[in-house]
Amino acid sequence: MPKPRVFVTRVILDQGLKMVQDFCEADVWPEEIPPSPEALLERVRGVDGLLCLLTDRVDQSVLDAAGKSLKVISNHAVGVDNVDVGAASLRGIPVGNTPGILTDATADLTFALLMAAARRVVEGERFVREGRWKTWSPSLLLGADLKGATLGIIGLGRIGKAVAKRAAGFEMRVLFADPNPVQLDEKLAAVQVDLDVLLRQSDFVSLHCPLTDQTRRLMNRTAFEKMKPNAILVNTARGGVVDHQALYDVLKARRIFAAALDVTDPEPLPMDSPLLTLDNLIVVPHIASASRSSRERMSLMAAENLIAGLRGERLPHCVNPEVYG
Ligand code: DGY
Repeated sequence: MPKPRVFVTRVILDQGLKMVQDFCEADVWPEEIPPSPEALLERVRGVDGLLCLLTDRVDQSVLDAAGKSLKVISNHAVGVDNVDVGAASLRGIPVGNTPGILTDATADLTFALLMAAARRVVEGERFVREGRWKTWSPSLLLGADLKGATLGIIGLGRIGKAVAKRAAGFEMRVLFADPNPVQLDEKLAAVQVDLDVLLRQSDFVSLHCPLTDQTRRLMNRTAFEKMKPNAILVNTARGGVVDHQALYDVLKARRIFAAALDVTDPEPLPMDSPLLTLDNLIVVPHIASASRSSRERMSLMAAENLIAGLRGERLPHCVNPEVYG
């Protein structure tokens, strides 16, 4: 029996890659930069499986190019906004993702960003390196307290809940807004409110919703206008949830205190983005899940989903279970 043919759009961490290479005839994109849309169309022709990353746009044209042989799409991410899941479902193709395993790493980075923005850690570091540190001063780089502050979480899924747990340790009050039903662990002291109330009352607003038609540019000019002047925005969800022009304007005008972004739109953020001129903005390169163990487990889970799909088995983590009828 010939091995199934798959296209893997980037080198993933060792164990997952080995599983894929043992089971399949794998064409692995070797470069650091993802395949261009044209290269993706070219490389998926006639494959049985596709293991893709959040940087790959898997739309109708990719499904068309792959053709009838395509049995499974395994996304090496929990978010699947880069995949046209509806189109895959119509063709009966299961789409896998990697939930759960990056929850803590992402919540940790959310807190790292939240604290860095509150206490101006990045500005302070630049201050020292630029030789501007002359003496201890009572008013140097004053920031915000966490204890007693209100954290507003938009989207109380796994990651939102993990952030809420961490906030409890800092004695923060937690509000959340979520249009979906939320099962609250009794030990989690979080209060559900309307988005409007959350924006008006929170000292920190942290985004944990998926990017959908409903959440695209959710944080727009109108939303920012509702925020407190001392508020800090943290985004570890998807860049598209924030209107970057509006964010730039409110930060520049000091209409809110600061923002910290793990994700931007586009990624990478162009070097001439006006956001990069602001000292009240922190930006890191989409590394929320980048702890070694999380990325190893993501690689394994993506491989398991891919192989299950190729075997005709149900994917362990499938975002469109309707394909199974
Ligand atoms: C995901 O898996 O969706 C994350 O954004 C990766 O860091």
